[in-house]
Amino acid sequence: MNKILVTGGAGYIGSHTSLELLKAGYQVIILDNLSNSSEESLNRIQMIACRTLKVIKGDVRDKSRLNQLFKEEKIDAVIHFAGLKAVGESISVPLTYYDNNVGGTVALCQAMSEAGVLKIVFSSSATVYGIPMHPPLVEDSKLGVPANPYAQSKLIAEQILTDLTKTGENWSISILRYFNPVGAHESGLIGEDPLGVPNNLLPYISQVAVGRRPELLIFGDDYPTRDGTGVRDYIHVTDLAKGHLKALNRLENFSGVSVFNLGTGQGYSVFEMIRAFEKASGKTIPYRTVPRREGDTAEYWSDTQKAKRELRWKAEKNLDQIALDAWR
Ligand code: NAD
Ligand code: WQD
Repeated sequence: MNKILVTGGAGYIGSHTSLELLKAGYQVIILDNLSNSSEESLNRIQMIACRTLKVIKGDVRDKSRLNQLFKEEKIDAVIHFAGLKAVGESISVPLTYYDNNVGGTVALCQAMSEAGVLKIVFSSSATVYGIPMHPPLVEDSKLGVPANPYAQSKLIAEQILTDLTKTGENWSISILRYFNPVGAHESGLIGEDPLGVPNNLLPYISQVAVGRRPELLIFGDDYPTRDGTGVRDYIHVTDLAKGHLKALNRLENFSGVSVFNLGTGQGYSVFEMIRAFEKASGKTIPYRTVPRREGDTAEYWSDTQKAKRELRWKAEKNLDQIALDAWR
């Protein structure tokens, strides 16, 4: 495999993965509509890697654009990040989420099928384990109820991909269920900088640390966890990016579909994350506890055995490195 199409490659996880692909010698073509990213991240990954990539500003739902792209370029495999990811927003505008996340996946797979490109790595999420969650979460465990349209859209996309392996077309598919991706490339040149009020813990803490927001609101300290706050499996985005290269390699001599958790196997609480960030930044993070956020679960983390065994991948970076890189 040589030439990889990366949909959503200008975004947070896509940019870190495209960088690792460039470093590993792949040719990279990014298709992104820049609805939640900018071209600046693409300039920076080319600068870090000292290599160039091709960028196409376009929408993954645009089937004729995809057909043209597969005709022009001899693509070997696709990593499909493009989609929308804000859980709260998905409740307000479910159709937009189904359109992008399900519609985008359908259009992409149709174009791939027509072009005979049948290798795909898909960005799924631990959120598909649904409610209730019984950690550690294992890939073949029975899934609960999806908590919101975002979670449902990922579950539907997983099902669509699984159905493709029964068509007789010889698809090779890796479905990656990410836990909580955090941190940034160690250069400090690329990372996560959401527009508006951050939905997620680490970007929020970062904005408090730099003085953009006065305090962190802790969503509940009365959970049945070791310190009362929510516990999650935070994974460094560079570890996550490297997991994609392993998943891609595996498709070389594999047909069918496999699902892998990408997490560390270790949960940390909100207070533990605050302490790690204070240590890394030398700043005090002011906080205030407010009631629980609707839809939140007390705690979950991954079972990492399958990825270790079959991908020969495991996360290397610890919480202190996550906090240091995010701060940088
Ligand atoms: P992101 O928003 O930073 O990146 C997504 C990219 O896709 C953006 O650059 C955006 O402009 C692009 N995009 C969106 N809709 C598009 C469309 N219709 N056509 C073309 N481009 C489009 O998000 P991210 O955090 O990098 O997430 C990447 C993928 O991983 C998403 O599918 C997301 O659901 C999934 N995921 C993310 C997390 C997380 O916490 N960040 C966790 C689990 C799964
Ligand atoms: C982590 C912990 C909060 C913000 C979400 C999506 C999930 C996945 C990853 C895409 C929880 C607490 C947070 C804040 C807080 N995305 N918190 N104050 O909710 O585990 O997962 O992102 O697939 O689908 O649901 O991540 O970072 O929002 O929260 O106290 O301002 O931090 O209650 O315990 P979450 P998060």
